[in-house]
Amino acid sequence: NKVVLAYSGGLDTSIIIPWLKENYGCEVIAVAADVGQGKELSGLEEKAIKTGASKLYIEDLKDVFADEFIVPTLKANAVYEGKYLLGTSFARPIIAKRLVEIAKAEGADAIAHGCTGKGNDQVRFELAIKAFAPNMDIIAPWRTWEIKSREEEIAYAEARNIPLNITKETNYSKDKNLWHLSHEGLDLEDPANEPDYNKEGFLELGVSPEQAPDKPTYVTISFEKGAPVALNGEKMKTADMIFKLNEIGGANGVGIIDMVENRLVGMKCRGVYETPGGTILYAAHKKLEEICLDRDTMHYKEQVAVKFAELVYYGQWFTPLREALSAFVDSTQQTVTGEVKLKLYKGNIIDAGVTSPYSLYSEEIATFGEDHCYNQADSEGFINLFGLPIKVKAMMEEKTGLK
Ligand code: ARG
Ligand code: SIN
Repeated sequence: NKVVLAYSGGLDTSIIIPWLKENYGCEVIAVAADVGQGKELSGLEEKAIKTGASKLYIEDLKDVFADEFIVPTLKANAVYEGKYLLGTSFARPIIAKRLVEIAKAEGADAIAHGCTGKGNDQVRFELAIKAFAPNMDIIAPWRTWEIKSREEEIAYAEARNIPLNITKETNYSKDKNLWHLSHEGLDLEDPANEPDYNKEGFLELGVSPEQAPDKPTYVTISFEKGAPVALNGEKMKTADMIFKLNEIGGANGVGIIDMVENRLVGMKCRGVYETPGGTILYAAHKKLEEICLDRDTMHYKEQVAVKFAELVYYGQWFTPLREALSAFVDSTQQTVTGEVKLKLYKGNIIDAGVTSPYSLYSEEIATFGEDHCYNQADSEGFINLFGLPIKVKAMMEEKTGLK
C-alpha cells in the first residue's frame, strides 16, 4: 500500500517517513509544494529519498497560489481579526488539493500530514482533502504517536540515520511562502515578551523599521478589476509582483505584525508575521476602492471581508459560501481599475495619490468653492426627514418627563 505525504524536508515531516513505513508497512510518496518558500526546496529530492521516500514530487503552485487564492482574498480585503493577512491559511487548501490529485493518480490509500493536533493547519488540510476525496483515509501522526517533543523527534531521527540540518536560530516554528513568513513558539509564547526584531536571523523578509533607510521609497501599483497587474508601470505576473514588493517593502521595514489570535481549535496563540508585499497590496487595493466603490457597496463589502477572512482562516476555502462571497466580491471589482502611489518609510505606508478612469470622486461636487451641481438648500429637507425619528423620540421624552 501507498501513502502520500505532505513533505517539507523539515524535522517533523522527515521523521514521519520512517514512522509511516514502520507503522503501516507502506510505500511513502513525498509531495513538496512550491508555494514560493524559496531556498528550502533545493536538495530536497535527495533528502527525501535518503529519508526513505520512494519518490518526491515537487509541485510548482506559485502562480495558482497567487492568482486563485491570494488575489481573491486581496479583492475581498479579508484580514483575520483585523491583523492577520492569512498567509498560512490559504496555502493549505491549495496544497491539499494537489495532494489529492497525486494520491488519486498514484492509487494511494491515504494522505498524511505533519500538523499537530493543536493547530489550525490540520483542519485546513483535512477539510480540503474531504472536499476532493470524501473517503480518503487521513493520517496525522502528531495526534497518535508517542513522540512528544522536539528532542524526542531528533532522537528518533538520529536512531534512523535521517539527514537533519537543524540550526539554533531556526527553531521558531515557521511557515514560509511567497505571501508571508510566520514565527511561533519559544519566547514568543509569552505575549509579554517584546520580539527582538534586530536579532540576527529573526526577520527573513526584511528589516526592522529602525534598520530601514532614512529615505522613503515610492511604489506605484496598477490594478485591473481589483487585481494587481503592474508595478511602477511594468506589467508582471502576480507572483513576481509579490516577490518584488516583498523586497521593496521588507527593505523599508513594512508589514511586520505581532498578534495574539484565536485559533479555530479554541486556544489563543501568539505569532509574528512578515507580510511586506501583502501589506502594501492591501493598502493599495483599499486606497483604490476609496474612489471606485460607492458608499453602500463599500460598507457591505467590509462586512463580507470579516466573514471571508473567517472562512479562509477556518480552512473553508472549498465551500459554497466562500465561492458565493467571491462572486459578490468580483461583482464589486468591475470598476476597481486604476493606479495607486504609496510612499514606504520606516515601517509606514503613506498614501501618495490615486487615480482611476472609474473614479466616483467629484471635485466639482465636493469643493469648498462654488459649484453648479449641488444645491445646499436641498439639505434642509433631507435633514428634517433623516432626523425625524430622533425628533419624535425627544418629543415623547419631553411629554412624559423621561428626560
Ligand atoms: N497561526 C497562523 C495560522 O494559523 C500560522 C500557522 C503557522 N503554521 C505552521 N505550520 N508553522 O494561519
Ligand atoms: C501546527 O500546529 O501544526 C501549526 C500551527 C497551526 O496549525 O496553527
